[in-house]
Amino acid sequence: MSILTILFLVATTFQTVHSSTKHYYFTVENKTITRLCRTRTIVTVNGEFPGPQIEVDEEDRVIIEVTNKASSGISIHWHGVYQKRTCWFDGPSYVTQCPIQPGNSFTYNFTVVGQRGTLWWHAHAGWLRATVYGAFIIQPSSNPLPEEHTIILGMSNFFAYFLHDFPGQWWNSDVSAMVDEATAAGVPPNISDALTINGLPGLLYGGCSESDTARVRVAESNTHLLRLVNAAMQIEMFFGIANHTLEVIEIDASYVKPFNTSTVVIGPGQSMNVLITTGSDVGSYLMAARAYSAAPSIPIDNTTSSAILEVGDSSDVPADLPDLPGHFDTAFVTEFEDKVLGLVEGAVPTEIDKEMVITVSMNVLDCPPDASEESCQFFEGRAGASMNNISYVHPNTSILEAFYTGASSGVYTTDFPQYPPVVFDYTGPPPANLNAVRGTKVHVVEYGTRMQVILQGTSLVVAESHPMHLHGFDFFVVGRGLGNYNSSLASTFNLWDPPKHNTVQVPAGGWTALRFLATNPGAWYFHCHLDFHLSVGLGIVLIVENGDEPSEQLVPPPVMPAC
Ligand code: C2O
Repeated sequence: MSILTILFLVATTFQTVHSSTKHYYFTVENKTITRLCRTRTIVTVNGEFPGPQIEVDEEDRVIIEVTNKASSGISIHWHGVYQKRTCWFDGPSYVTQCPIQPGNSFTYNFTVVGQRGTLWWHAHAGWLRATVYGAFIIQPSSNPLPEEHTIILGMSNFFAYFLHDFPGQWWNSDVSAMVDEATAAGVPPNISDALTINGLPGLLYGGCSESDTARVRVAESNTHLLRLVNAAMQIEMFFGIANHTLEVIEIDASYVKPFNTSTVVIGPGQSMNVLITTGSDVGSYLMAARAYSAAPSIPIDNTTSSAILEVGDSSDVPADLPDLPGHFDTAFVTEFEDKVLGLVEGAVPTEIDKEMVITVSMNVLDCPPDASEESCQFFEGRAGASMNNISYVHPNTSILEAFYTGASSGVYTTDFPQYPPVVFDYTGPPPANLNAVRGTKVHVVEYGTRMQVILQGTSLVVAESHPMHLHGFDFFVVGRGLGNYNSSLASTFNLWDPPKHNTVQVPAGGWTALRFLATNPGAWYFHCHLDFHLSVGLGIVLIVENGDEPSEQLVPPPVMPAC
């Protein structure tokens, strides 16, 4: 039976599910670690980096008790988990909850229904996710690959901040200090100097890196499942394995029509299941990851992270890297994305009730009236970002709670625009000045609305690609193109077998069209998964109202953390 047939069976056969409850205890705490001969203190969960892997079965209840023993407030987001009717447990700070303060605990409690595959969890407060993340795996109720091995690859670019050691510029022991420094000047933070695979940078970082190389052992003559997650703060990546073809079968925990490739492209926030088949010979091969960027004018971390795939009882240290595309190879990325199609056909809403067109943009924000010049060093203003010209600012309380209790006054307004407030040639030569305004505006959608959202990139400041992530839903990616979207392009949409994702790249200088059914009540963050962009306002909150039936309504909240 081919993989395709097996997947079809899994997707379509009725299954008996025995759900159970899985408990996890997460202690957020500082931990001293050494990488590349330098020792630093980082924030971890249970002292592990990457953090503990959550592994549950379809339809399980998952209870995670989080205790904060670190020194700043934190919350945890279960990236890609629908949280149907349980938005309270989604996790983004100041959207669905206030951060869990040091010394306090909060218990997340939700079920995983209607989804299976590789997802992940991460801190959703400030920049803490740089070191606070792990895999979240939902095993299908019947396993399509009886002989699977599960291999978790995480990638992170946080070591960067441990390596700055030049005269006059020393980043303190944590990422927050580095970010605080950049924020104080109103400029983007420094680029990273290292990428990692499973928390380790690999062989290509000079003197002391051999012991900092991840090794993954698999059997000869077999097919193996690799679960990939891009947990990097700032970087889209290419990933490949020397001498092995990757068969992509799932992206963002939704099956795709399987296809082969030498290299996968994976954006921050995305996850991907790929199959590899090993030969009969014992031997070792290098796996490698490096940055892809759509904007050659912006400095990037051009290093390469590597890890070793040991086939059979091999302890060799291989030298040959996989043949990865160049850092700016957008043609490769487009070709890759063209191959991504949904396995399930005919599931897209063909009619829509509501369309939104939203610009996704970098900006120069005005220097606030009483701010110092030192704090406005980005084109005499501050580096910012916006959607429909609103640069999102977090309130100091939970949006969801304000909505639920009807106490939104002074917290947010509901006038986030449905269409761009200023129409211009979005992807042409940028207008001299189109300052975004800071604000906490949400957009309210009725339960059950069939939504179409066009995300329109702009060339303001610089045309970059943006990995956009919607909480609480998967969406169908029905269209994508370069230049400016107009409604005549809707005739090019794929309404038959588009892929279903929770995170999608809006191409630099282009647009992406999404459709989804708003049947999950709550306050859902919709934002760029490049943390710098997110931190300077590239996000909105969509509020989906309760439906009429009790089964269409938010469950009552537990006692939430206080702000
Ligand atoms: Cu993985 Cu709001 O994020």
